[in-house]
Amino acid sequence: MHRREELVKRLVIGISGASGIPIAVGLLKEMKKRPEWETHLVITQGAQKTIAQESRFSCRDIEAMATKCYAINDIGASIASGTFHTEGMVVVPCSMKTVAGIANGFSENLLLRAADVTLKEGRKLVLVARESPLGSVHLSNMLSLAQQGVKILPPMLTFYNKPESIEDMTRHIIGKITDVFQVETMGFRRWA
Ligand SMILES: Cc1cc2nc3c(=O)[nH]c(=O)nc-3n(C[C@H](O)[C@H](O)[C@H](O)COP(=O)(O)O)c2cc1C
Repeated sequence: MHRREELVKRLVIGISGASGIPIAVGLLKEMKKRPEWETHLVITQGAQKTIAQESRFSCRDIEAMATKCYAINDIGASIASGTFHTEGMVVVPCSMKTVAGIANGFSENLLLRAADVTLKEGRKLVLVARESPLGSVHLSNMLSLAQQGVKILPPMLTFYNKPESIEDMTRHIIGKITDVFQVETMGFRRWA
């Protein structure tokens, strides 16, 4: 193996069509500050709509923030195989459709396949699952995933850290995500 490949850590990031695109953008920016990490990004068709709705960045802008990005239908991409080593995967934001797909092994696009691979290889899988209110189908799918060791990390509001802006709230969620991978988000306020 090449020396750089031995040292580099890879994080797969999936963006699906739930509300919360600024969290995905913030995570990509945070990871980009760390040369020892690569980000491998896949964006669903649903997310293309939420990106247009919620962000000043285009899909292309967001793709340019990642080390490498993949087309959603490129089912033969490296992240579709367990032989491609990664530290794990974050789906941020994660729609209820994507939650259902992962919970049921329905790998009909590259994001779902990469999540399935992450699960079967026993790697860390974090779902920033977002819907409100949550129905019993959503909750049952998330329970099944949590029981398999998936981290369900909904983008919930937090007030104990005294946020003064949406950016503070967003950073707090990014901090919770990066914590799973032992990466410290700058400005993340812990309870002390
Ligand atoms: C502006 C907008 C916001 C949406 N927000 C959510 C959401 O928060 N949670 C959710 O589960 N679906 C949400 N949806 C619906 C999903 O985008 C839709 O179910 C889509 O098919 C999900 O597909 P994907 O998971 O492959 O991206 C939203 C759709 C739009 C257009």
